[in-house]
Amino acid sequence: MSAITTLTMNPTVDRSARIDHVIPDCKLRCNDERFDPGGGGVNVASAIHQLGGEALAILTCGGFVGDFLKDLLNRRGIRTQLIPVAENTRENVIIDETESQHQYRFGMPGPRLSFDEQQACIQSIEQLSPAPDYLVLSGSLPPGVPDDFYGRVIEATGEKTRVILDTGGAALRSGVDQSVFLLKPNQRELEELAGSEITSDLDARDAARKLIDRGKVKAVMVSLGRGGVMLVTEDDEHRIVAPTVKIRSKIGAGDSTVGGTVLALHRGQSLPDAARFGVACGSAAVMTDGTELCRREDAERIYQEMLSF
Ligand SMILES: Nc1ncnc2c1ncn2[C@@H]1O[C@H](COP(=O)(O)OP(=O)(O)OP(=O)(O)O)[C@@H](O)[C@H]1O
Ligand SMILES: [Mg+2]
Repeated sequence: MSAITTLTMNPTVDRSARIDHVIPDCKLRCNDERFDPGGGGVNVASAIHQLGGEALAILTCGGFVGDFLKDLLNRRGIRTQLIPVAENTRENVIIDETESQHQYRFGMPGPRLSFDEQQACIQSIEQLSPAPDYLVLSGSLPPGVPDDFYGRVIEATGEKTRVILDTGGAALRSGVDQSVFLLKPNQRELEELAGSEITSDLDARDAARKLIDRGKVKAVMVSLGRGGVMLVTEDDEHRIVAPTVKIRSKIGAGDSTVGGTVLALHRGQSLPDAARFGVACGSAAVMTDGTELCRREDAERIYQEMLSF
């Protein structure tokens, strides 16, 4: 049993490749094709693994893409608990256009999950023994799964477990009505939730504070891209600035931030210190190419640099 468990309802095999130039209506030749496991919770567990920690990834898994995903995760040494589903796990496509350095990310909706398959996911959390210290609910919900699904998972989670929620849209809106230890919206997700524009640190702080004042969410870590994060707790707030790094690919930045934060919490750090390590991990993730998450040596070096300012 793992002290940190992640749930991914809509995992993916990320297929990425490079091309000099994307041209419409032409047959395009890609190169440097690679395959990586993906989806919010899967990425968080992978980031934790990269950082030298351990997490159990619970994920839905179906069809030949599901088999491939299982194989990719096994080869990386990530501990998994697979919930079989009838339809194929999705495959997302990421194309790096080398001339422009633009990145095109195509996300697929994912398999439609039956009611029984959804129940099996909830049961897998309920039956974890002992209950995990941290449960990370991360990523989009696939077709057929109702918006209040994460709320139902949280209800089925024991009080001992601290829930970290990182999702968007309607799933996020309904999730904040439940007991959440840490919410990790990015700027856009917080805007959608607050129903107003976030144009300053003060806006981010006030929107996060309003969520906490509703009494269910203990802390909100708003990620602000290259700006770092705004961490708001019941009685405190911290603006943690991201360091300047060479940007290669933003994929996995948010998931690396969550992974680093949860791992540091698990290792006994305070929430502000853990969030600082999370920011270091997020920034380390943007330094790596394509779908690669944060590298441990980059994250630890950046964290030490952040402490010296
Ligand atoms: N350009 C950047 N330079 C330095 N650090 C960055 C940059 N962009 C992102 N980061 C780091 O990654 C963290 C998460 O970024 P962001 O707010 O973009 O998350 P997100 O939108 O949830 O990402 P994702 O697309 O992975 O879900 C930031 O808090 C910061 O630490
Ligand atoms: Mg995100």
